Amino acid sequence: MSDRKWIKKVADKIKEKELIVAKRNKGKIPYTTLDGQFDDKSVDDINWWTNGFWGGMMWQLYKGTKEDLFLEIAKDNEEQLDKVLMEAKGLDHDNGFKWLPTSVANYKVTGDKASRNRALLAANNLAGRYNLAGGFIRAWNDNGDSNNIGWAIIDCMMNLPLLYWATEETKDPRFKQIAISHANTVIKNFIREDGSSKHIVEFDPNTGAYIKSYGGQGYAEGSSWTRGQSWALYGFVLTYLHTKDETYLEVAKKVAKYFIANIPESGLIPVDFRQPDDCQLEDSTASAIAACGLIEISKILNDKGDDVYMDAALTLLKALSEKRCNWDMDTDHIVEKCTEAFYRGKHEIAIIYGDYYFIEAIWKLTAEELFIW
Ligand code: GLY
Repeated sequence: MSDRKWIKKVADKIKEKELIVAKRNKGKIPYTTLDGQFDDKSVDDINWWTNGFWGGMMWQLYKGTKEDLFLEIAKDNEEQLDKVLMEAKGLDHDNGFKWLPTSVANYKVTGDKASRNRALLAANNLAGRYNLAGGFIRAWNDNGDSNNIGWAIIDCMMNLPLLYWATEETKDPRFKQIAISHANTVIKNFIREDGSSKHIVEFDPNTGAYIKSYGGQGYAEGSSWTRGQSWALYGFVLTYLHTKDETYLEVAKKVAKYFIANIPESGLIPVDFRQPDDCQLEDSTASAIAACGLIEISKILNDKGDDVYMDAALTLLKALSEKRCNWDMDTDHIVEKCTEAFYRGKHEIAIIYGDYYFIEAIWKLTAEELFIW
C-alpha cells in the first residue's frame, strides 16, 4: 500500500474536529454518544473502566497540536479520577487503562510528582491482585457471590505496562516480575494453537489449577472475540517492548497472523471471528487496537520489503477512515460501529476507546504519538 497521503489528511481532520469537540465537552468524561452527543461518566459512573481514555486522547492531541485546551482537559480528567483512588470501588485490574493514559502520560510530559504518585498507587493496587498459586492477576472485583475470585481475562495484558512503568520508575523489580508471570500464564492457558485467544479463564484461586474458560464478551466458549484478539496482540507486543524477550514477540506475531488471516475483504472487523456467517455485527474498536499492535510489530521488525503487519494495519485504518469515521463537526464521536459485547452489551455504538486507539494508530504513522503504554 504505497499511497499514504490519506494518513496525513485523516490526521488533519482529527485535529480540526477534536478542537471543536473538546471545547464542547470540557469537564465531561465521555464513554459513548446519544444522538451524537457525548455522555458523561464523571456524573453517572466515575469508576467505569474506560474513564482514562478521554484524558489519553487529550494528551495525544496536545502532543500533535500543542493546543493548551487539550492539556487543560487532560489534567482535569486525571484529577477527576482521584475519586476512584479514594473510593477504591473502581480499583481493579483496569488500573492500567485508567492511569496510563492520564497520570503516566502527564508524568512523562510534565514530570508532575502528584501524577507519579497516583500512578504508583494504582500500580501497587494492581500488583496486589496477583494470585501467587496461579500466577495471574485477578480480573474483576467481587460480583456479589464471590465466584470470580479465580478469574483472569485477556484484556489484562493491556494493564501490564503500568507494572512495567512502576519498575522502570522505582527500580523495584517486583512489579515487572508480576507482569511477566501473568504474561506467561496467559501464554500457557489463553493462547490457542492457531494463535487465537480465549477471553476468560477460571483458575482455582487456592491451588492455581486451571478450571475452565468462558466465551465472555464473544460469541461462545471456544470462539474468538475480536477485541480480545486485539488486546492479546497489542498486549504481547507491549510486554516484548518492556522485556525485550523474544518469546513475547513470537506470541504477538502468532496472534497477529491469526488476526490478519481473518480480516474480511471489507477490512471491517466483526465482533467475533467465529460468529455465525449470517451475523453482520462489527466492532471497530478491535480494528483500531489491532492496528496499533500491528504497526508496533512492523516497527520492531523494521521490515523493508514484504511487511504483512504494516499492510494489514493500513488496510484496517483505511477501511475505518473511509467507511466508519464520522467527520460531522456537530457529532462528538469519530469512530462508529463499536460493540461492547456479543450478548450483554450494546452493539455498533460509538465508544471512546474506538476514537482513542484510532487516533493513537494514526499518530504512530505520523510520528506524533505520545507513547503511554
Ligand atoms: N476490557 C473490557 C472490554 O474490552 O470490553
